[in-house]
Amino acid sequence: MLLLGIETSCDETAASIVEDGVVVHSSIVASQNELHEEFAGVVPELASRAHVERITAIIQCALSQASCTYAHVDAIAVGHRPGLIGSLLVGVSAAKALAWSLARPLIAVDHVHAHLYAGLLRTREEAALAPIAFPALGFVVSGGHTSLYLLRDWTTLVRLGATIDDAMGEAYDKAAAILGIPFPGGPNLDRLARSESASDRAVELPVSRLDRDSLDFSFSGLKTAVLYAARGVPAPANPRSDRSPPPPPPPLDEHRIADIAASFQRAASRAAILKIERALDLAAEGRLKGLNRRTRIATLLVGGGVSANSRLRAELTQLASRRELDLRLPAMPYCVDNAAMIAGLGHHLLAAGITADLALQAIPTTAC
Ligand code: KG4
Ligand code: ZN
Repeated sequence: MLLLGIETSCDETAASIVEDGVVVHSSIVASQNELHEEFAGVVPELASRAHVERITAIIQCALSQASCTYAHVDAIAVGHRPGLIGSLLVGVSAAKALAWSLARPLIAVDHVHAHLYAGLLRTREEAALAPIAFPALGFVVSGGHTSLYLLRDWTTLVRLGATIDDAMGEAYDKAAAILGIPFPGGPNLDRLARSESASDRAVELPVSRLDRDSLDFSFSGLKTAVLYAARGVPAPANPRSDRSPPPPPPPLDEHRIADIAASFQRAASRAAILKIERALDLAAEGRLKGLNRRTRIATLLVGGGVSANSRLRAELTQLASRRELDLRLPAMPYCVDNAAMIAGLGHHLLAAGITADLALQAIPTTAC
C-alpha cells in the first residue's frame, strides 16, 4: 500500500511516499526560511503563495524520488488541521484534486497527532521495528504546541494537558532572541548550550509545575527569568522604596550567553520530564484522564521540532530506561514538519475506515 502524504500547514511545503505506514520511499520538504527570515516570523500570505508555487513540483519530486507515478498511489493523505488557514488550503485543495482525478481515497490527518507518529517511520534500509503497545503516552513539542496525549490506538487520542502560554519551541526561540542568538533560535541555542565552557547550573531558572496533578505546561515564567538573567532585574517601580536596587547582571558576553542557554535548556527539559513522569504516575494510580483503571503505560511517543533538541533527547532516553518505556523518538528529518508522518498516520486512519470526501475543510485548530 503506497500513500502520498501532503503537508502545507505552516511554512514547509512537503510531500512523501510511504509504504504500509512505515517505510519512507521519499520525503521532500521545501522550507521557506529564506522568505520569512527578514520578518523574524512566518508571514501567512507569503507562506500560502509560496505553497501554491511549489506544491505541484514537490509532489512530482516525491513521486520521482520514490520511482513511482500517480498510478502507483493507493490513497492520498493530507494535513488538514491545525495551521495557517491559507497554507492548509493549498495542501487540502491539491489533495482533493488528486483524489478526485485519480479516484483514490482521501484521508484527513491532524498535523499535531501526526507528529506523534514520526518515531515509527524508517527508511528502506533500516530494519523493521516491533509494533508499539497501546495505551501509549504522546508528547508533542514544537514551535506551536506543547501537549501530552493518551493514545488508546492510532485513531483515539485524549489530550491530557497543553501549554497555557508559550509552546516550548516558542520559548526556545524567544530565549534565543533575548540572548542575541541568531535565527533559527532553537537549534542555535541547543548548539551553544553544548559548548564545553557552558554550565547548566550557572543560573537557577524556574520550572513551572502548576497544580499538583496538572499536566499543563507553562513557559512564560522561564522566558521572563531568562530576560532578567540577561538584562538584570528591573529596579522597584517606586523610587522611594527602601528595597536596595537589584545588582547589575554580569556582562552578557559569549561565556554568559552559553551559561544562560545551558541553564535554560536544563529547566525546559526538566519541565517536560516532570510532566511525563506525572502522567505515568497518574496512570499507575488509576487517576489518568481517559483511563478507568490502574495502567502501566509502556510506550512513549515524542514528536515536533523540539524533539530534535539534544538535551531533551538525552533526558527522554534516560527516562525511558529508568521507567522501562518503549521510547519512539523521530529520526532528525522527521522531528520538523514533514509529509511522511502525514502519510504514516494516514495509513492507520484508512485501515480504520476513516476517510474524507471532497467536502473536506481546512481547519486552523487541532481536533483535541
Ligand atoms: O514542529 P516544527 O517544525 O514546527 C511547528 O509545528 O511548530 O517546530 C519548530 C520549532 C521551533 O520553535 C524551533 O526553534 C524548534 O522547533 N527547534 C528546536 C530545535 N530544533 C528545532 N528547539 C530546540 N532545540 C533544537 N535542536
Ligand atoms: Zn509541526
